[in-house]
Amino acid sequence: MEFKKKILCIGAGYVGGPTMAMIALKCPQYKVTVVDINAERIAEWNSENLPIYEPGLYDVVEKTRNVNLFFNTDLENGIKESDIIFVSVNTPTKEFGAGEGMAADLQYWEATARQILQLSESSKIIIEKSTLPVKTALAMERILSFSKSDIHFEVLSNPEFLAEGTAISDLTNPDRVLVGSNETESGLKARDELVEIYSNWVDRDKIITANLWSSELSKLVANAFLAQRISSINSISALCEKTDADVSEVANAIGMDSRIGKKFLNASIGFGGSCFKKDILNLVYLCQYYGLPEVAEYWLSVVKINEFQQTRFIMNMLNAMFNTLAGKKICLFGFAFKADTGDTRESPAIFISKKLLEERAELRITDPGALKNAKSDLENIEGKISYIKEPGKAAYGCHAIAVLTEWEVYKGLDYKEIYKSMEQPAFIFDGRNILDHKKLFDIGFNVFPIGKPALTHF
Ligand SMILES: NC(=O)c1ccc[n+]([C@@H]2O[C@H](COP(=O)([O-])OP(=O)(O)OC[C@H]3O[C@@H](n4cnc5c(N)ncnc54)[C@H](O)[C@@H]3O)[C@@H](O)[C@H]2O)c1
Repeated sequence: MEFKKKILCIGAGYVGGPTMAMIALKCPQYKVTVVDINAERIAEWNSENLPIYEPGLYDVVEKTRNVNLFFNTDLENGIKESDIIFVSVNTPTKEFGAGEGMAADLQYWEATARQILQLSESSKIIIEKSTLPVKTALAMERILSFSKSDIHFEVLSNPEFLAEGTAISDLTNPDRVLVGSNETESGLKARDELVEIYSNWVDRDKIITANLWSSELSKLVANAFLAQRISSINSISALCEKTDADVSEVANAIGMDSRIGKKFLNASIGFGGSCFKKDILNLVYLCQYYGLPEVAEYWLSVVKINEFQQTRFIMNMLNAMFNTLAGKKICLFGFAFKADTGDTRESPAIFISKKLLEERAELRITDPGALKNAKSDLENIEGKISYIKEPGKAAYGCHAIAVLTEWEVYKGLDYKEIYKSMEQPAFIFDGRNILDHKKLFDIGFNVFPIGKPALTHF
């Protein structure tokens, strides 16, 4: 089949895979190829066991794979034949040198820019899909400006706002699609070409355009605002626990104010995931770099409250369980950083597991989709850990259950049976406030929610 245009995506991760599968599904006239340096990952994309767990993803991939969606490791050919290149490589926090622990590590990003420059034989539109510090497109343009005289690269910013766990519905019905471009003739022309791709399924009024820098910055700011709401309600949960107020009642009361809104007001053990912390730290670094220490400090506090919340959770466990966890069996319900994903990057469960092991507790970890990642996260950590798929079996003989991920399945378990199988007194620490606390208390559990009075039998 003759395709209208050839699209390449560099980076077959949580963003590159699903976004390109959606473009392929909605735009059969385009050939979409996704490449990665990780051959194992590509093999998984070509198999029945996709490398990421995401509801609805397999259906989309199955319909398009080897029709107009292709996964391979042939970066060279991919670059040569493409008209449009999305760059969706990882941009983790830098772990060395200036900006260590805060700035974005742009080595993978720059490596792709140089590969594009070296291998291209025709002009192309290059699209930043990765989340990047504001002004990164300028660096990209500078590198690409060393091209042969008849080749022109136009750099666009098109940050991705999907949330893991709901990626397919977010991509099908995005709140908005943002396209940033240079406001030059060639910049606007390239922008229109990308807008045309999305117009195949997204309402035109939801596709918004901006200058490059606003677009790059908007992604960091969106994540900072989302994380800030979580830290805000979590900070109030600590005050609720001291005052016998109930954080769910407070959240409900404030959330009905249409200026505040209801979303992202669930108190919990805190946010995780590969993006929130890294993107806020990146924002903090940018503020410091541009001489705005007060603004940097303001956003840093969002991360500090998140760490405080996790430490508080452990301290509450320790205090409730008579100030010793040594030798006690603790069952962790959930390890993924949120429900409906197998992703455990920056999951609060990692920090909590390490702290519990330091207290010499014995861990039983259960999760419907993240056990493989959990094992590799805790691979080199000393202590007794077992991984058990079935939650009832995992809790058997334990002293306590800690709910760390809001998987739906945990709401419907037979807690009467679970209670009978546990050591007494049995504890539940509901780090996501998803369980029926009164019912659990009536069964016999000592229940410790977040931001609500504990229900105890002693
Ligand atoms: N995960 C999310 O929910 C999410 C949402 C929005 C935006 N983002 C942003 O999107 C970007 C990608 O995130 P992700 O979660 O998909 O990361 P990821 O780590 O899952 O995937 C990145 C992939 O890029 C590949 N890669 C790195 N350098 C390469 C190169 N030179 N050539 C070919 N492949 C290369 C890696 O092997 C990896 O498979 C990041 O900037 C992230 O901040 C992520």
